[in-house]
Amino acid sequence: MAVDPVLPASVEQEARAALAGEPEEHRVLVLARLRRWWPDLLAGLTEAYGDAGAQVAEHAAEVAVQGALDRPAELRLLDLERLVQPDWFQSPRMLGYSAYADRFGGDLRGVAERAPYLAELGVTYLHLLPLLQPRPEPNDGGYAVADYRSVRPDLGDLADLRALTATLRGHGISLALDLVLNHVAAEHAWARAARDGDLRARAYFHVFPDRTEPDAFERTLPEVFPDFAPGSFTWDDDLRGWVWTTFNSWQWDLDWHNPEVLLEFADLVCFLANQGVEVLRLDAVAFLWKRLSTTCQDQPEVHALTRALRAVARIAAPAVLFKAEAIVGPEQLAEYLGTGRNAGRVSDLAYHNSLMVQVWSTLAAKDTRLLRTALARFGGRPSTTSWATYLRCHDDIGWAVDDADAAAVGLSGPLHRAFLSDWYSGAFAGSDAEGLVFQENEATGDRRISGTAASLLGVHAAAGDPVRLDLALRRHVLAHLVVLGWGGLPVLWSGDELALPDDDAWADDPTTAGDNRWVHRPRLPWEVAARRDEPGTVEARVFGALQHAARVRGGLPALHASAETEVLDPGDDRLLATVRRTQDQVLVGLYEVGGASRTCPRSALPVEGPLVDALTGRRVEGDVVLGPYEAVWLVPALS
Ligand code: GLC
Repeated sequence: MAVDPVLPASVEQEARAALAGEPEEHRVLVLARLRRWWPDLLAGLTEAYGDAGAQVAEHAAEVAVQGALDRPAELRLLDLERLVQPDWFQSPRMLGYSAYADRFGGDLRGVAERAPYLAELGVTYLHLLPLLQPRPEPNDGGYAVADYRSVRPDLGDLADLRALTATLRGHGISLALDLVLNHVAAEHAWARAARDGDLRARAYFHVFPDRTEPDAFERTLPEVFPDFAPGSFTWDDDLRGWVWTTFNSWQWDLDWHNPEVLLEFADLVCFLANQGVEVLRLDAVAFLWKRLSTTCQDQPEVHALTRALRAVARIAAPAVLFKAEAIVGPEQLAEYLGTGRNAGRVSDLAYHNSLMVQVWSTLAAKDTRLLRTALARFGGRPSTTSWATYLRCHDDIGWAVDDADAAAVGLSGPLHRAFLSDWYSGAFAGSDAEGLVFQENEATGDRRISGTAASLLGVHAAAGDPVRLDLALRRHVLAHLVVLGWGGLPVLWSGDELALPDDDAWADDPTTAGDNRWVHRPRLPWEVAARRDEPGTVEARVFGALQHAARVRGGLPALHASAETEVLDPGDDRLLATVRRTQDQVLVGLYEVGGASRTCPRSALPVEGPLVDALTGRRVEGDVVLGPYEAVWLVPALS
């Protein structure tokens, strides 16, 4: 193992001078963190910027030390707490919830007022969708940020944001916010300056005088929004050039080959951390580094830059975690939690997109074979990291089914993907799903899907038919139990705890009409939420089931995120079986996915002796009998 480089004396001296007025314990701690993380900072930046890396690292260290100086007292204590318990986010007690601030609580104060609702559900982590100042509509739900240092005015201001994080912390809830780092709004000050002819600002973006380079790049670039934003470059008259725009024409990709961009974001990381944000969701992080003749995703420099930014965060605000939003294949995904020299040194959390896709695929096909094959490929993740597991989020569902995995179970990848789109848009005979097709790509045949979980699972199509409704609700709860029982940090999508239907209002509102993802981003109707207290209602049933599962989960050591999930073959393709083992516990999850009762022979399960279903407390001596869409979490009985 190579010996880590020592912090240069000049950097240490400068840090000491900056920290001169600090209380001794803070000064000592910050210097210790600087020494501890300098090697990561230097390694990451040298990988990205070559010989210039050392100098960039010195600047980044200054930014980090300033971030530590600016850190409010309350958050300095949080840093110490997190350092004492670095696996806090891996605890089975963690439960995430994700929502738009306005759609959930009206504004930031409204969200703070709703903290007890979240706590009642068992939530310990809240991801609020972008709330920093965006460009005027359209702005991709806030993912086109015009100013990272102010809050969207109708939601409140920075003081409200700080107050919200404090209120949430008081309820044991950590706030996660997006750090949109691939692009800024065309209205951001950097973009405006570039249009005004400022060459330094122009160098923050990828601008090309003619189509030569854009054409060369586009030969291997996939399109993200082929439907409403075809191509990846946009002509701008003021720039007199083509600017790189992976997403919409008004979302300008930043040029991370320019170290000044890295330094700007190092500062933003500290700034957001010091408002009390505990988790930064690295939005579209896969796209940061561009390289000709590639898809311009998942380039090694993405990880080098993440490692450097994380080092900055660890120096300034060690309580802060990074969560990678990389919707990429299994091999590439592993890199976001770190492999080889980056193991455990990049993001702490990453979305488990494959699990999400496979749950939907399994429920449509009533068959677990593809899931077993696809998910067997996930393993070897650093034990200090965690998956963020989820069934739905604010985005569409893209059928990321690997052709080779499909072939391994006798399916055609393209045909299975087409089946899933047909099934979830309700076009397939026998399907009662009510999804919408999003971004049909004629070149690839891809059809992504929008829709709330409950609408996709047939809950709303079953209204008025108690038997069908019962089955659909079981399916809705089961899908969530797979996610909750997987291990990792499960994140619920706002409204799914009440089985909310699709929100058709998106089509009538000019600000959302062009993007049908708004169909599954309903405003939380609080009068409907109130029905969670009325026994017999759909809301009471679903909210109660998820709340109960979250409570049970919190008491199961085997669900600590450090452990891996193994998918078993129970000899019945309508049963999903998983096992998790930690020092303290073995946990077998068994899920009926076909909608009819099933029996799993005990011999198919790798545990001896009497078992207890932690969800119901039911004792299981012999074979395990499951009702339609039933889930059991089996642990050895104490006696
Ligand atoms: C992420 C977000 C998505 C957004 C895109 C561009 O993928 O989840 O909603 O459109 O980034 O910022």
